Formats: sequence, C-alpha cells, structure tokens
Amino acid sequence: MQYQGEKINWGILGCGNIARKFSEALAYLPEAHIQAVGSRNLKKAQEFGQSYQVNKSYGSYEDLVRDPDIEIIYVATPHNFHLQHSLLCLENGKAVLCEKPITVNAFQSRQLVQAAKEHQLFLMEALWMRFLPAMAKLREWLQEAIIGEIYLVKADFCIRRDLDPNSRLFNLQLAGGALLDVGIYPNSLAQMVFEKKPTSIYSTVKLGDTGVDEFSSYVLNYGQGEVALLTGGLRIQTTHHAEIFGTKGSILIPDFWKAQQATLRLEGQDPQTVDFPFECNGYEYEAREVMNCLRKGQTESLMMSLGESINIMQLMDEIRDQWGLKYPEDK
Ligand SMILES: NC(=O)c1ccc[n+]([C@@H]2O[C@H](COP(=O)([O-])OP(=O)(O)OC[C@H]3O[C@@H](n4cnc5c(N)ncnc54)[C@H](OP(=O)(O)O)[C@@H]3O)[C@@H](O)[C@H]2O)c1
Repeated sequence: MQYQGEKINWGILGCGNIARKFSEALAYLPEAHIQAVGSRNLKKAQEFGQSYQVNKSYGSYEDLVRDPDIEIIYVATPHNFHLQHSLLCLENGKAVLCEKPITVNAFQSRQLVQAAKEHQLFLMEALWMRFLPAMAKLREWLQEAIIGEIYLVKADFCIRRDLDPNSRLFNLQLAGGALLDVGIYPNSLAQMVFEKKPTSIYSTVKLGDTGVDEFSSYVLNYGQGEVALLTGGLRIQTTHHAEIFGTKGSILIPDFWKAQQATLRLEGQDPQTVDFPFECNGYEYEAREVMNCLRKGQTESLMMSLGESINIMQLMDEIRDQWGLKYPEDK
C-alpha cells in the first residue's frame, strides 16, 4: 500500500467519547484529513462529522469501510468489538489504529495480528501514553541507565466512578472492568520499563456486583526480585503517579498515563523536572507515529509493536485467570 498523498485520509469508526478527542488531534495535524466518520446511527455520524468539518458521514460501519478514499481507520468502539471491527477494516483494505486494549484476550490479538499480516496492512494498538514526549524522555533516561539498576516500578491508575451497570466500564458483556480499561496502563508501563515478560504474577481483585473487577492490584516479578507494584480501579480515586526506583536515583511521572512532566532525582543532586506540554490534547503524538509508519511503508510501529500488544494481552489474561474472570469472548 502506498501513502503518497499530501494528507493521510482517516476514517473514524464509532462516534463515542474517545473518538471525539482523537478527532480533535487529527483536526490539529496538517498531515491528517478526516475523510469520513461511521456510526450505527446516521444522525449521530452527521453531528459528529460537523464538529470536525468532515464531509462524509455513514450510518453503518460497513458503509464506512467501503469508502475507497479512506486509507486508515481508527476503531473506537468498546473493547469486545475491537476484533470484529478491526477485521472488518482489514478485510476491506484499510490500515487500522485500534483503541486499547487491542482485543479482549491474547487469542483474539493473535488472530487480528495474523489478519493484518495476511492483508499486509498496518495495525497498531492506540496506547497513546507510549507516544507522549514525557515517555520518550523516560525511555532516554532508561537507555542511559541514569538511575542505575532498576529494582522497583510503582504505578496506580484508579478512577472514581459511580457504579452504573449500563456503563461500558461495569458491563461484563462489553468486557468492562478496571484491568482492561485503566489497569492496562500501569501494566504497559512496567512492560516498557523492564522490557521483558514477568517471571511470576501475583494479583488481587475486588469483584463488583456486575461481575467485573472494580479494583485490582498486580505484583509483577521480573526475575531476580525486581518488581512492579501496580493497581487499577473504577471506584476509588488514586494519585496516578508512576515512580521508578534504581540504585542511583528515581524518576517520578505524575499522571503518567497522560504525562506532561517527569522529574529525575539523583543521589546528592537537586531534582530535575522537565515539562512536556501537549501541542494539542496528547493524541497527536500517536497519530503522528501512525502516519510516519504509513509513509515509510511499515506495517507496525516499533514504539508499540504487535508482539508487545500480544504480550500485554497475555499478561492480562493470566491476571484474569487468577481471579476466574471470564468474558463471553474467552474460550
Ligand atoms: N486512549 C484513551 O485515552 C482512551 C480513553 C477512553 C476510552 N478508550 C478506549 O476506547 C474505546 C471506546 O471507549 P469510549 O469511552 O469512547 O466509549 P463510548 O463513549 O461508550 O463509545 C463507544 C462507541 O462505540 C460504538 N458502539 C458500537 N457498538 C456499541 C455497543 N453495543 N454499545 C456501546 N457502544 C457501541 C458507539 O458508537 P456509535 O453509536 O457511533 O456507533 C459508541 O459511541 C474503549 O475500548 C476504551 O478502552 C481509550
């Protein structure tokens, strides 16, 4: 597939919350063009499209994926539809940026990655945190081993929401629960820092009335006692700090999942804080990475590889296995 036009033509599949934020970022980027939006409801698609000066709106996802001018589709439906909707795009010749988690489980992820390979099309999980400039700084510091040998990663991502059985977050049928929605961020961060799979996992869970995890914690052991202590939750608010501790110092990232700052603390030195304000709303960085990959003819991103997405799904499968939490998609 050649992407030679002045702008990359995007399609938006599903007109919910996050699709709005992502579309705002695409509208900000001069190299991006929103060609069309698709919803299960034409009126909703039209209203959404008007907000971002999009000319074409479709009242079904099937019509959207058949638009010949679309080059890449952003899939922004609930988790349990990611496989089905991403396959629909690939089978119609479209590259895919799919919201996190890429699928519900690792079995589905492998199926999706296989389909992308067969169609020789780009596929990436939209784990936007990974592309933020503050995270690029973190990776730079880690590569320099500036804080020495890393022993501990601590990160929490718990949000307080009222219990609403109809919300996607608490609905078992829509693959709700803290782990797949917010817990994926600290798990992804630990994976990024240690760059290997944990050798053992210990997790705890508080299951709610709707059958999903309302709060869960994960202790990931990385082999020789290096550890990640992580939490995800939907009913309590935590600080959202990530801290990485090494033998020569530590790194603090406030609001790590939407990071705009990182502080380096080295033994015997004043702390050094670096700010990375978003150019737009933070989603511009992942969109840029996707378009750079497309221009270079890559079918995956090195910053968020498909193998990495599968590894994270596998990790979350194992955690859910420990609790016996099954979704309809689990075999
Ligand atoms: N990267 C991030 O920062 C971030 C933040 C929030 C969410 N997310 C991810 O994005 C995905 C969507 O989350 P969201 O918060 O945007 O959800 P949302 O507001 O509920 O929107 C989801 C959209 O999916 C479509 N949909 C199709 N079938 C549906 C069904 N049976 N029930 C409900 N919606 C259905 C709907 O679009 P139409 O009605 O237009 O068809 C709906 O508006 C999730 O996988 C989530 O993990 C990512």
